[in-house]
Amino acid sequence: MYRTHTCGELALKDAGRNVTLCGWVQKSRDLGGMTFVDLRDRYGITQLIFNMDTDPELCEQARRLGREYVIQSSGKVRERSNKNPKMPTGDIEIDVTGLTVLNKSELPPFTIEDESDGGEELRMKFRYLDLRRNPVKNNIILRHRVAQEVRKYMDSIGFIEVETPNLIKSTPEGARDFVVPSRMQPGTFYALPQSPQTLKQLLMVAGFDRYFQLVKCFRDEDLRADRQPEFSQIDCEMSFVERDDILDTFEGLAKYLFRQVKGVEFNEPFIKLPYKEAIENYGSDKPDLRFGMKFRDLTSLVKGKGFQVFDGSEYIGAICAEGCSDYTRKQTDELTEFIKRPQIGAKGLVYMKYGTDGSLKSSADKFYTPDDLQKWSSAAGAKPGDLLLILAGEKRKTLSALSELRLEMGNRLGLRKKDIFCPLWVVDFPLLEWDEEEKRFFAMHHPFTSPKPEDLHLMETDPGKVRANAYDLVINGVEIGGGSVRIHDPGVQKLMFRVLGFSDAEAEAQFGFLMNAFRYGAPPHGGIAFGFDRWVAMFGGQDSIRDFIAFPKNNSGRDVMLDTPAPISDKQLGELLIELKKEKKD
Ligand code: AMO
Repeated sequence: MYRTHTCGELALKDAGRNVTLCGWVQKSRDLGGMTFVDLRDRYGITQLIFNMDTDPELCEQARRLGREYVIQSSGKVRERSNKNPKMPTGDIEIDVTGLTVLNKSELPPFTIEDESDGGEELRMKFRYLDLRRNPVKNNIILRHRVAQEVRKYMDSIGFIEVETPNLIKSTPEGARDFVVPSRMQPGTFYALPQSPQTLKQLLMVAGFDRYFQLVKCFRDEDLRADRQPEFSQIDCEMSFVERDDILDTFEGLAKYLFRQVKGVEFNEPFIKLPYKEAIENYGSDKPDLRFGMKFRDLTSLVKGKGFQVFDGSEYIGAICAEGCSDYTRKQTDELTEFIKRPQIGAKGLVYMKYGTDGSLKSSADKFYTPDDLQKWSSAAGAKPGDLLLILAGEKRKTLSALSELRLEMGNRLGLRKKDIFCPLWVVDFPLLEWDEEEKRFFAMHHPFTSPKPEDLHLMETDPGKVRANAYDLVINGVEIGGGSVRIHDPGVQKLMFRVLGFSDAEAEAQFGFLMNAFRYGAPPHGGIAFGFDRWVAMFGGQDSIRDFIAFPKNNSGRDVMLDTPAPISDKQLGELLIELKKEKKD
């Protein structure tokens, strides 16, 4: 036995015990007659004391310990005279009688403490050292805990975990696939699954009526704080269910996880917000409902007074920022700059200040009487002390810019608190999205999503209007999960492929395996997948999922620790019959 205890468990009750601990040297302090060493392992830190008077040789040895040396140390637990209430082991120390260096360490490239001096790139290159730091370590432990709770709950309600393959077939819809060349059938390729969507549907045909899996998914898409090229889903599917059966089941999972992991209770059902209302009211299909600031449509109210910006706009919308009527010129200029950023793309900002003294002042005063402004205030629900922020332009773009402005104001006013959680279901998404470049419809979710039965008659006459039986779980402005009731009628599936522009032969070539299976008795089914990394990051109070993944990729999709992606040898390429094109040099 290397150790009798961990570095996180000894307390006053253990005083007098002889113990042996193992771990890494966090730091050591030499105070002349005494040397103090903080010994760290996964469980905590324990203070070791080496005394020059009682054992000078051992004390000399301790002085030579460097940061991150791996040591084994024995001694007696004793009460500290100088207690540290901030540490769980802060009441005790070990009066050391034996020390073995198990391994030396080079000086680490950054300090391994809660606040590190290492930049992101360096910490990623030495991720195994970064993982020794408390904040990152705790994230990984949180991830483990959430995973265990997911499995416990899903098992308790009869779901079974089934693994599906990682080498599957490339399909044209969705994001870009990562592909893997086959050596045994040169010139052919597997694809890594973007999700096990079709496989879980096949499991429904197979009769596994309640399936789930914590599963890796792979998507070759542009990366952001909440997107990794390989990420994990809690993937789920059920048979003999309608939409609300599915939502109830997974609302149960969500409430259970919040209770177990965060100690948060939700007593009311999550609200179900139709997509159309989400867009009209918040300009987003993932609204952050921790705060109000709903959009107010001022279009008909403000037009026709000679103000060209408004008169020439399809849509004019406002948000009301409570208590901001004292915003200075500098602050409104900052907001104007914000909405003009290329990624937001609004042309300008009109504002109206409703002073606490009842005065009304707008940046478009020239065109509007105080009476007009009073009408704006009533329409937008503004009271004395508030600031109306108004954007105008093409409807879709303006709604989306107003959404960004709303979130920015939420941040500025401290309304997006990390410890408040506002979950909701966004429902009734459009089934199809028109792609202007390709001049065809794409499935907004995926091609197996069922249209709402009452909209089925529009499939061929007005496909853009058809709503899907699809839903997302949104929490605090983050899309945590999404799913749908699936098509199980071969006729409707054929129709869907036709609307998507697939010929029968193309549909057969791409999805024949699924359509064939559906000929043998597919039960009505539906499901959902949650972004596991996103959910854990939210529980951990952070926006970036990277620090909740043990070995993540950077924003260009590189693993800087493994130094990959990397070239492969000519021999490997040869076996795959792959010849690389020479890169063009201009
Ligand atoms: P969808 O594509 O909406 O649905 O994905 C489900 C959830 O996975 C998370 N997610 C991601 N997380 C991190 N990095 C990424 N690159 C990434 N992409 C998606 C999101 C998202 O809500 N098969 C369907 C589900 C179904 O219909 O059952 C699917 O994959 O949180």
